[in-house]
Amino acid sequence: MSEEPSATAIESLTRRRDVIAVNDEPRPLVDGFRRAITYLRLSVTDRCDLRCTYCMPERMTFLPRREVLSLEELYELACGFIERGVTKIRITGGEPLVRRDIVHLFEMLGRRLGHGLEELTLTTNGTQLAQHAEALAKAGVRRVNVSLDTLERARFEALTRRDALPQVLEGIAAAREAGLKVKLNAVALKGVNEDELPDLIEWAHGQGHDVTLIEVMPLGDVEEERLDQYLPLSDVRARLEQRWTLAESDHATGGPARYVDVAETGGRLGLITPHTGNFCAGCNRLRVTATGQLYPCLGGAERVDLRAALRSERPEEELAAALERAMAIKPEKHHFRMDERGAKPHLPRHMSLTGG
Ligand code: GTP
Ligand code: 5AD
Ligand code: SF4
Repeated sequence: MSEEPSATAIESLTRRRDVIAVNDEPRPLVDGFRRAITYLRLSVTDRCDLRCTYCMPERMTFLPRREVLSLEELYELACGFIERGVTKIRITGGEPLVRRDIVHLFEMLGRRLGHGLEELTLTTNGTQLAQHAEALAKAGVRRVNVSLDTLERARFEALTRRDALPQVLEGIAAAREAGLKVKLNAVALKGVNEDELPDLIEWAHGQGHDVTLIEVMPLGDVEEERLDQYLPLSDVRARLEQRWTLAESDHATGGPARYVDVAETGGRLGLITPHTGNFCAGCNRLRVTATGQLYPCLGGAERVDLRAALRSERPEEELAAALERAMAIKPEKHHFRMDERGAKPHLPRHMSLTGG
């Protein structure tokens, strides 16, 4: 990324925003269905060094770099959300760690922990985690979600179109070494990792990691038929129950997963079920892309341009107005459909644009 701010510019911005935050009255963000927004998923790039077959085609078109917000702008935006009651920020991508100097953003936002912000975290594919784990922990990150769909190297390569499993495993180990709690995310894929899910869960629990299974969502064109990828987690759960004792857990992270405790492994398993168990009633989140486009729902086309607000003559007023619009248009629920072969994707944008 070009034109990133210097450490001094960041320092002075951080101090200025702290002052604004202290003096501002909190005005919580509440949508038309009386859901309070406390969780921001902030994408810092749509680029990625992997090409997961359920996420994007091999030849992916990425956003022109000039469209992407600077680290200072991302920080300004994040602070605007903290001032409106957001307590949890998850940095996403694409792959957030491919963005140059991204650790600066963590360092800046880390200073807001305990000053409005309660959790600063990220979702990563893990390929560059080994290089960054310590700096992230130092910045105040306490846990990370790492995508890992298989533990078999050849399968990983087929699935991500890159031979990077050893790097990812190194990244996970480095995160643990640095004192970060790791949660693994696995998209459940029919005929791809279906047979391996119990082993993956057992391995994760053996390493002390929570693991969350995810139903694939029809976002963007990929080369495969979505319906062929789709594995309902209701089926997976029924199969796991023949093997293990699963007990509902009241563990909650503020994300969409519902958790069960697995008696035999002593670990926790999360299930993200957009298709077989809707979770929208408890939605507490918004997502913003690296170009400052706010999508109030992952499964909806509704969008508000925060970059225009941020770059306007009166950014504070424009941002406030944009957030009011977002609250007014946030839909009640997503309407993903997974029952039609050959259907166009539910939405043309890929998951890598919004970071999920
Ligand atoms: P925790 O803080 O650990 O609960 O993380 P999280 O589940 O909120 O975040 P993560 O980035 O690990 O996302 C896991 C999966 O949940 C991804 O596939 C996201 O796309 C999906 N997800 C997150 N929020 C939503 C949502 O509002 N709607 C839908 N349909 N999926 C979501
Ligand atoms: N459906 C479900 N999950 C997806 N992810 C990426 N694309 C999709 C999709 N189409 C997952 C990644 C990562 C998380 C942010 O979203 O594997 O763990
Ligand atoms: Fe990259 Fe994540 Fe998409 Fe895989 S799912 S291609 S790791 S953005």
